[in-house]
Amino acid sequence: MRKKVIAGNWKMNMLPDAAIRFIDELTPLVKDTQNEVVLCVPYTDLFYALLSAQNTNIKIGAQNMHWEESGAYTGEVSGQMLKTIGVEYVIIGHSERRQYFAETDETVNKKLKAAFKYGLKPIVCVGETLEQREEGKAKEIVTMQIEKDLEGLTEEQVSNTIIAYEPIWAIGTGKTATSEDANEMTKTIREKISNIYGQNIANGVIIQYGGSVKSSNAKELFSMSDIDGGLVGGASLKSDEFAKIVNYN
Ligand code: PGA
Repeated sequence: MRKKVIAGNWKMNMLPDAAIRFIDELTPLVKDTQNEVVLCVPYTDLFYALLSAQNTNIKIGAQNMHWEESGAYTGEVSGQMLKTIGVEYVIIGHSERRQYFAETDETVNKKLKAAFKYGLKPIVCVGETLEQREEGKAKEIVTMQIEKDLEGLTEEQVSNTIIAYEPIWAIGTGKTATSEDANEMTKTIREKISNIYGQNIANGVIIQYGGSVKSSNAKELFSMSDIDGGLVGGASLKSDEFAKIVNYN
């Protein structure tokens, strides 16, 4: 049985005092869950979040990283820096980074390899635009992203990669993919991984759904055969709402 991983993506929200308060509120609400609970917070919250989450089952992640270890990359943060302060997870290739910060499958691939080099657990985002879906190209686009993003990874690394299928048209729009559509795409992703790395590896890979997940739709989405939890944006900013999503089962 694959574990369900429920990850919050705070994006560019939450000052440190709010982050600390959030984790203090969330801690008792999720302490009994069997699901993996992750909060991907802004860099400026990381240290506070790590301290607040000590001795809890809440794991802390970053939302991006650079692929180099150090050097003249003004404004960037490396995987080594994240790992050194105790960060466990990192989101790579979120559609907002692809859209606004020129991330490509090539940079995603480099970041993914660097994440493994420094012992971070990556959550790699893939997903099609509305236009691509309407043109009937969604599967083609997403499977191509999978192929390019995972290129050159070892079987073990692929096994430890979390994939978040996030249709871009469903992010922050309130429009959720139907659970059937979301499950169909996560199955397609699993098949693609199976074609490259074999059925065994594919069966173990955690594939989340993301895009307007909330407490009212989490159960339906996360109960589908191939959806192993979610990457949650807007609904991860309120501790009680996020706790309900974590405790969907
Ligand atoms: P949303 O964002 O839940 O607000 O749609 C999801 C994401 O961008 O990861």
